[in-house]
Amino acid sequence: MAKRIDVGGLNAYYGGHKAIEDISMTVEPRSVTAFIGPSGCGKSTFLRTLNRMHEVTPGGRVEGKVLLDDEDLYGHGVDPVSVRRTIGMVFQRPNPFPTMSIYDNVAAGLRLNGRVRKSELDTIVEKSLKGANLWKEVKDRLNKPGAGLSGGQQQRLCIARAIAVEPQVLLMDEPCSALDPISTLAIEDLMGDLKERFTIVIVTHNMQQAARVSDRTAFFNLAGVGQPGKLVEIDETARIFSNPSVQATEDYISGRFG
Ligand SMILES: Nc1ncnc2c1ncn2[C@@H]1O[C@H](COP(=O)(O)OP(=O)(O)OP(=O)(O)O)[C@@H](O)[C@H]1O
Ligand SMILES: [Mg+2]
Repeated sequence: MAKRIDVGGLNAYYGGHKAIEDISMTVEPRSVTAFIGPSGCGKSTFLRTLNRMHEVTPGGRVEGKVLLDDEDLYGHGVDPVSVRRTIGMVFQRPNPFPTMSIYDNVAAGLRLNGRVRKSELDTIVEKSLKGANLWKEVKDRLNKPGAGLSGGQQQRLCIARAIAVEPQVLLMDEPCSALDPISTLAIEDLMGDLKERFTIVIVTHNMQQAARVSDRTAFFNLAGVGQPGKLVEIDETARIFSNPSVQATEDYISGRFG
């Protein structure tokens, strides 16, 4: 069976600096995969190569292949904008469009895709806000600015915005690191629901979070400052946290470095 995501021999550069080297891994559909590893080992860079966001950075360059359901995202004639629609992203700091209403924030991506009837838009906005577990809190203030929500609500708004366009994959880069514990738990719960419909990849520095939410965990590391980050191992999360194959993984998860 085809893997949803299949990465082979991937390198990513910032100008002359190779940030990640020779990464190969697969991601199963309808699962949560966590990326862990010390700061600077290239987790965010790698995540951004998965939806062609890396090349938006000046000097950003990628070698290797990333297949989504057997189609190479870096193949000739592939439109990066459509890739980013299929593979959505949620960032560390909630970034709703500040002057836009809650409604318009969720509808923004759909409008970019072309004209959608108002009634249809209403339906999708409601469904996405429900999907992001935010509907009850905002249904009476849909026309108020997104910036007026709490941090945790803003992050769920960003998730609603991301899922409104029905992506196949959702990439999340430390989505809870700016949130309080209650909002963090709300987002973690949400991930459990979302993985019924989407494939999720999350970067986290929180080991408990990786253990709680993910099915598989990938540990990345770098040999030293200026060295490229590499994938050390990827395995079932339970195994990574109980009996990893590589000593460096054990050292990292037990807090001996990083
Ligand atoms: N825009 C950029 N320009 C140049 N180098 C960059 C840029 N962004 C990241 N890098 C470099 O690429 C390497 C990997 O960085 P990246 O942000 O992917 O690491 P990370 O694992 O996400 O770290 P953290 O856990 O701190 O978020 C680092 O050496 C970093 O300095
Ligand atoms: Mg990062």
